[in-house]
Amino acid sequence: MQKLALLGFGTVGQGLAEILLQKKDALKAETGWEGKVVAISDMIKGSIYDPEGIDIEKALAIVKKTGTLDDYPESEGLIRDLDSFETIEQTNADTIVEVTFTDVKTGQPAIDHCKTAFAAGKHVVMSNKGPVALAYKELSQLANQHGVRWGFEGTVMSGTPALRMPLTALAGNDINEISGILNGTTNYMLLRMEEGLSYEEALTEAQNKGFAEADPTSDVEGYDARYKIVILANTVMNTTLKVDDVACDGITQLTPYDIKKAKAQGKRWKLIARVRKEHGVVKASVQPEMMDETHPLAQVQGVINAVSFECDLAGTITLSGPGAGRTETGYSLLIDLLNIYRNHL
Ligand code: HSE
Repeated sequence: MQKLALLGFGTVGQGLAEILLQKKDALKAETGWEGKVVAISDMIKGSIYDPEGIDIEKALAIVKKTGTLDDYPESEGLIRDLDSFETIEQTNADTIVEVTFTDVKTGQPAIDHCKTAFAAGKHVVMSNKGPVALAYKELSQLANQHGVRWGFEGTVMSGTPALRMPLTALAGNDINEISGILNGTTNYMLLRMEEGLSYEEALTEAQNKGFAEADPTSDVEGYDARYKIVILANTVMNTTLKVDDVACDGITQLTPYDIKKAKAQGKRWKLIARVRKEHGVVKASVQPEMMDETHPLAQVQGVINAVSFECDLAGTITLSGPGAGRTETGYSLLIDLLNIYRNHL
């Protein structure tokens, strides 16, 4: 029985909790895996810990109704108000599900959550991009030293296996270029703006659908896609790319006129992230590109993302699927949990 502590109980944390509730029996029957949430610690909603397990159905219902965990029923073993670090260190959880808000510049507090968890001998799974984009080498070494696992499938393209697919199914190839559409919010906004919505209306829709980052500047300025291309480069191409090495332009400079003009020419704007390795030199960028409507990436619409891997043996392989979403990102955490249980990558 894997014992989980959820740091953060927003869209993604609740998405995972719903999946655990719905799929509990099927997961046990199909894989043997059983998971129990013993703690939830959220900076705004409050914090509960029960070594015997939290009633997830009640926790979800109460948060939906009141916005906090304050009305979660008292019981003999229930402890309230542990902060995130106390939750990592003082609970009987063996795995930390890190789904807090991250400061995009520092990656904190998520980086320190990882370090504390690894030092305490606990696995970490996360959809939080900051620590992977900013401190991949250091944190993966630390996890190895402590004999624990660090899963972050959901950091790139949510539950679409943009990291595991190349690392497992494409093993043995040299991957020389990775490119694609890696941000669901902006791809959704570009579609809706092409359909006539203003920039603000399109952004509000993307936020209401739960696609956007807590601070959507990260989406529209391209920072989120930049994080993802750095994660892909460092984990799949084994580079040591830094976020600041990546030239980055978002979609904020694109006007409705630019979008209309492209449409009239049979073209479409897409925010493309790319990393290329040539003669040992690595170059990466995030920028809007105007593509012919017939280009395969121009057909990738809405919250769907796509990523192409240019492989020396297998040729160019493209994977597409949802890049954001409550259930999709919740599911990405489940992939990591199941693979820890199976002792697979
Ligand atoms: N804000 C991100 C996106 C969420 O829109 O793609 C998933 O990383």
